[in-house]
Amino acid sequence: MKVLVLPTAERAAARTAGLVADTVATTDQPVLGLATGSTMEQVYADLVTLHRTDSLSFATTTTFNLDEYVGLSPDHPQSYRQTMEALLFSHVDLHPQACHLPRGNAPNPYAEAERYEAAIAAKGGIDLQLLGIGHNGHIGFNEPTSSLGARTRIKTLTRSTREANARFFDDPKDVPRYAITMGIATILDARHAVLLATGSSKAEAVARMIEGPLGADCPATALQMHPRTTVVVDREAAAKLCMIDYYLEIHPDGEEPDLG
Ligand code: F6R
Repeated sequence: MKVLVLPTAERAAARTAGLVADTVATTDQPVLGLATGSTMEQVYADLVTLHRTDSLSFATTTTFNLDEYVGLSPDHPQSYRQTMEALLFSHVDLHPQACHLPRGNAPNPYAEAERYEAAIAAKGGIDLQLLGIGHNGHIGFNEPTSSLGARTRIKTLTRSTREANARFFDDPKDVPRYAITMGIATILDARHAVLLATGSSKAEAVARMIEGPLGADCPATALQMHPRTTVVVDREAAAKLCMIDYYLEIHPDGEEPDLG
């Protein structure tokens, strides 16, 4: 794993947006995997700015989001589709038909999960998968004890995840119990996995993911098996890393080493 430690959350988000922008600018028909959650909001804001000021074009980009709540229609205000519209899709030149999320209101959610997995494969797989991490070590909605070999499917959300996401709903009782999520194996198929974590509340999960033993009790540890994972953290999220001095030495200020 490549670990980039930036001094602030803003710098960490900007570094992450830069990695996404490089992929979009240098890949023929790029395919991005996208995430939702508060951590991603600044990344999308930075990408919109790059689109407006640096002419970063998404015209040939296809996107697949990690997950969607079961039961919510694409026009439900709390659906991840609407979140993505508000944060990114409606502000850049992505083709509306190229922006994919699982359909939360599909009549058969199991069949929808299979369709979604096949749609990613049909596009040739994901070039860069953007990820956040839950306090319990989830990525996408792969909660602890998820199979590390799972593909897109239905997951029941843990109580802690539902409580963490209740802030987005008027009534905590409205938080859906189920989600369609890419599986760990789907995520590991991406050619580059980029995970952003900021703030002290993520420090424990970040340390487990990077330096802890591989295991289903912290699904993000599966990224240790990925040949190309970049973890971008701010100093607060990095606070519990035993080897922080090493990461800072290799990547001062989150930069690549100059090997001449
Ligand atoms: C949602 C997703 C989740 C979030 C995670 C962190 O699409 O993939 O794994 O990334 O729950 O969410 P925040 O950033 O709100 O702490």
